[in-house]
Amino acid sequence: MQVQAALSIKEEILRLKDERRAIILAHNYQPAEVQDIADLTGDSLELSRAAATMDGDIIVFCGVDFMAETAAIISPEKLVLLPAQDACCPMAEMITADELKLVKSRYPGIPVVCYVNTSAEVKAESDICCTSSNAVKVVNSLTEDSVIFVPDRNLGRYVQRFTQKEILPWEGFCIVHDRITPDDIRKAQALHPRAAVLVHPECRPEVIDLADHVASTSGIIRHVCNDSGKEFIIGTEVGILHRLARECPAKKCYPLSRAAVCSNMKKTDLKKVLDSLVSLHPRVTVPEEIADRARKAIERMLSL
Ligand code: 13P
Ligand code: SF4
Repeated sequence: MQVQAALSIKEEILRLKDERRAIILAHNYQPAEVQDIADLTGDSLELSRAAATMDGDIIVFCGVDFMAETAAIISPEKLVLLPAQDACCPMAEMITADELKLVKSRYPGIPVVCYVNTSAEVKAESDICCTSSNAVKVVNSLTEDSVIFVPDRNLGRYVQRFTQKEILPWEGFCIVHDRITPDDIRKAQALHPRAAVLVHPECRPEVIDLADHVASTSGIIRHVCNDSGKEFIIGTEVGILHRLARECPAKKCYPLSRAAVCSNMKKTDLKKVLDSLVSLHPRVTVPEEIADRARKAIERMLSL
């Protein structure tokens, strides 16, 4: 009975999606059922590029609010839907535009690099945006010797390892990755001694020190698929394990921490995706004046 219901909702989504010329974008942390109906599942950079380039009139964004906002900023002609209206990123809420303005006034002339995990207002106050997959490249593309980096202190400190520039990090963090400890790694290694340890750069420096490889979510997937190793301990949100199982079925992937669950990423389900396609709500819009300034920071990143 349940299987039949699940099938019909999926079929209805796919039918409506075509009828409405919609594309469904899903982040790598989304629930398996949502990843399976998406046109593209990817990391933040891949999803931003897709929002800018894919054909369609509507983007159904299965992720959290800053991702849908970014899509609305770079594709103002498209209608952007966020099926789980209350899906937010606590890290993005750790800095406001007013706080950033204050930092800028203290460091005049120093450019601001903002992680894509920020509000549109914060992006509008920034010189260039970055994601976890291009943060080092973005910082090194600037000519100044110092850079204000917001809001993720862990990503900022990770970038510091690969640049001569002085990084001035804001003290924000991801509540999911910041909780992962070196002890989690030691325990996972005791259980799986032959497995390589892969972690996301939102992890703490002492966790990164113990990792064999550090990458964005899609970077982790590429590494597992292309590496000659057979076993991997995955230090990021557990939703990624679905794509890993689908795309690299020959590899054994173990979560570094089963507690690494982003509850906001789990707010989307098939019912909400269908409802959003039927009602064309909840919509994500960004006021034009903010969008115009934020777009410059995002497009500068995308042009690198
Ligand atoms: P990625 O860009 O690596 O997918 O990361 C997004 C995110 O929110 C990580 O917590
Ligand atoms: Fe935000 Fe962390 Fe969730 Fe990513 S995993 S959306 S950074 S809270």
